[in-house]
Amino acid sequence: MRKLEKFGKMTRRGFFGLGLAGLSGLGGLGYGFLVESRWLEVSRVRIKLPKSLKAPIRIAHLSDLHWSSFVSLSFIEKAIEIGLGQNPDFVCVTGDFVTAGDEMELDEYTRFLRGLSSRVTTFGVLGNHDGGSWSKVRGGYRTTAQVSNLLDNAGFTLLSNRSTTIDTKGGRLTLVGTDDLRSGSFRPSAAFKGVEKKAAAATILLAHNPDSKDYVGNWGWDLMLSGHTHGGQIVVPFLGAPVVPVRDRRYIAGLNPWKDRLIYTTRGVGNLLGIRLNCRPQISILDLA
Ligand SMILES: [Fe+2]
Repeated sequence: MRKLEKFGKMTRRGFFGLGLAGLSGLGGLGYGFLVESRWLEVSRVRIKLPKSLKAPIRIAHLSDLHWSSFVSLSFIEKAIEIGLGQNPDFVCVTGDFVTAGDEMELDEYTRFLRGLSSRVTTFGVLGNHDGGSWSKVRGGYRTTAQVSNLLDNAGFTLLSNRSTTIDTKGGRLTLVGTDDLRSGSFRPSAAFKGVEKKAAAATILLAHNPDSKDYVGNWGWDLMLSGHTHGGQIVVPFLGAPVVPVRDRRYIAGLNPWKDRLIYTTRGVGNLLGIRLNCRPQISILDLA
């Protein structure tokens, strides 16, 4: 009988324990879906380039907008307004404009993004969700044509395996952009064509996936801007992010050195499936000197 009572008490305790764990788990999920995924953070980062500039310049670095049923245009608009409110010299958006584009009305997105590029010069590169080999086997666009057209029509300077120069108050900069590493159209030799390896001007590379670094080491660039990781999107205290779609986990987020160069990875604005935990959406304001 005593044994049974004890068993009964343990069962009740276990039941309440499980109940509390379940409630806190549900609470955590609710927080991740309803609060943190929409809780934008502005991160200001000072970056000393190996080649110094005549005057500091400011870049608003956004990435992974992921317009979808989980990420609304009004939320993306909020992120853009916050970024523009920091008075950047120009904006860089490093890919994943959509999650699975077929479900979205791209004309509406074009008009929306034109509202950004009409206010400040905006450069973009494509991500793995924006079409190509990776996307087509996951129900997304088969090629990069749709999102490329979207960005062209929206007035972005799309750096699809090509480079350009920009005159800023800090001097002339070269910007190079590659298509996504897993799109089937990643062409660094085309992107860097005509870019001097030891150019006097600083060279900034836009590449969606920070793992791209392993394929562009032979070309001259000083700073690479990336996204793709979402910072892990779900980060477990003391353990880190269980799932990150990169080989090299050193470049999941933030400013990190790579050989004699720098890589900055932003956590991005949008998300997949609507949740973020311990990993807020981010607008990165980069002050280059
Ligand atoms: Fe992404």
